[in-house]
Amino acid sequence: MRSVVVTSLGVLTLAGLLVPPAEAAPAVHTPPPKEVKRPVAEGYGGAVATVDLDASKAALTVLRQGGNAMDAAVAGAAALGVTEPYSAGLAGGGFLVYYDARHRKVTTIDGRETAPRAMTSTALEGIPFAEAVSSGLSVGVPGSVAQWDLALRKYGTMSLRQALRPAIEIADRGFVVDQTFHDQTQQNADRFADFTPTAALYLPGGQPPPVGSVFRNPDLARTYRELGIRGPAWLYGGDLGREIVNTVKKPPVRAGATRNVRSGLMEVSDLRAYRALERPPTKVTYKGMDVYGMAPPSSGGSTVGEALNILEAVPKIGLHEYLEASRLAFADRNAYVGDPAYTRVPLGDLLSDGFAKERACLIGPRAMPHPAAPGSPDGSYSACASAAPAASAPEEKKEGPETTHLVVTDRWGDVAAYNITIEQTGGSGIVVPGRGILLNNELTDFTFGPAPGDPNLPAPGKRPRSSMAPTIVLKDGRPLLAVGSPGGATIITTVLQILVNRLDFGMSLPDAVAAPRASQRNTAATQAEPAFTQWYGAELTALGHTLTDVPGPPAGEIGAATGLEFLRDGKVQAVAEPARRGGGSALVVGTHR
Ligand code: DON
Repeated sequence: MRSVVVTSLGVLTLAGLLVPPAEAAPAVHTPPPKEVKRPVAEGYGGAVATVDLDASKAALTVLRQGGNAMDAAVAGAAALGVTEPYSAGLAGGGFLVYYDARHRKVTTIDGRETAPRAMTSTALEGIPFAEAVSSGLSVGVPGSVAQWDLALRKYGTMSLRQALRPAIEIADRGFVVDQTFHDQTQQNADRFADFTPTAALYLPGGQPPPVGSVFRNPDLARTYRELGIRGPAWLYGGDLGREIVNTVKKPPVRAGATRNVRSGLMEVSDLRAYRALERPPTKVTYKGMDVYGMAPPSSGGSTVGEALNILEAVPKIGLHEYLEASRLAFADRNAYVGDPAYTRVPLGDLLSDGFAKERACLIGPRAMPHPAAPGSPDGSYSACASAAPAASAPEEKKEGPETTHLVVTDRWGDVAAYNITIEQTGGSGIVVPGRGILLNNELTDFTFGPAPGDPNLPAPGKRPRSSMAPTIVLKDGRPLLAVGSPGGATIITTVLQILVNRLDFGMSLPDAVAAPRASQRNTAATQAEPAFTQWYGAELTALGHTLTDVPGPPAGEIGAATGLEFLRDGKVQAVAEPARRGGGSALVVGTHR
């Protein structure tokens, strides 16, 4: 154990090297650069962190105009729909965890896409995953706009129209293409080329826009503008909805394309029936702090929460215990979590101390046999029941790095942790003609089957299980941390690892975010970033762990986190990635009180 603790301190030291060095003092005659993407900012009066400078600025503008954290979260998300269109957008969905300072309560808003009413449990059976991705069939009823609307009406101070303004401006004026945007376009070029409106928007002249060029999306600017004027009903039953349904049913495939593009099942009535939902958060107590997360249909809150409870029940916490707790929590997530409107999710038991203690008993000095069997969250817990390994674990799909997460806080102390997604990088690959928006492929998050009894099989109106894990930690009833990440199922392990780095290994939040990551999701091998393997591989392998590379793209990277820490005397630290995915952008409203 001692060596692991020493190793953890090593992370702290070495992780520091991952943070860019403080900038050199500017030359006397050079004005200080105003618009640089920085991963860490500290100050007062509000703060934001996203993967992108333009999106962070959009949220900051709203805070400076007097908007609160919810207004800024919606503005930031809409801006990410412009600058990170392959990860976010109004035809996608998301989960938002919110601390309402006035009422000192944490709530969540579920904007998850739903399956259309015509979707049955066998609708995805036998379809190759890659084929399902680029199809109308995988497009879920979009949730983002209903989520923004509900969020603003219940917790915001601005109208949707106001909150969309910064995003409209970016879409009109354009943003500078960076390496990440270029690379993501390149990775998608083959399938984008097969959809006429997608190729016209994202492959001008048949090529991905070059790094350094300005990318405008006037169609999206118009779409946002009209949405602001007409309101959500324009999408949920109105003309925009009809255009989306037409596109889903008859994807605009280029003449001569050989791709098998399946048409979708969505009807305007599905859009009309869609509701964003306010749900109670998940909550676990960890080391005296309250950790709030996203409840099902996301598995984020339940899996991060269960793993933390397990860690609290083991005598010492090191990287071995982190991996084993995650393995066990994933076995339970896979067995028990789905849309609670369709599946009985034993959430209270999954998050109970009794269950965690029973599960923690399985953690020994060496890695447990693969795969871990799910436990029995049935309310009856014994001290140390031995458990045989499961015969098999569900097959894991490849986890892409996309989706995005933003955090924002305002001068009143409200806090938003917000995950947004259109699922794969570039979603379904289908742009709605004339609208500048990519359709999601969120329904590929369902289990394809056949898998009798699986809690995550498709059903009419059902929400696919998610891994998104926006998380807020309160200490003595006040915000201490907010954190989240993209990365499919690795979102859960990234959030868990950052919390363990910060709360158990004593790292600062910037170091906790920068530190090399590993992700164990009840798979035979643990995916690990190169620096993780280099530093801890020998030690963990000696304990029976197998580490494997992260395939990417981008190869070798897990997640792209953002977070906030509430320091003393009202000071807030906003944190983004220093290096992963090109680094993120943290901004504060003011540097003085
Ligand atoms: O909801 C989820 O968990 C996923 N659809 C998020 C997608 C993501 O992070 C990118 N990876 N596949």
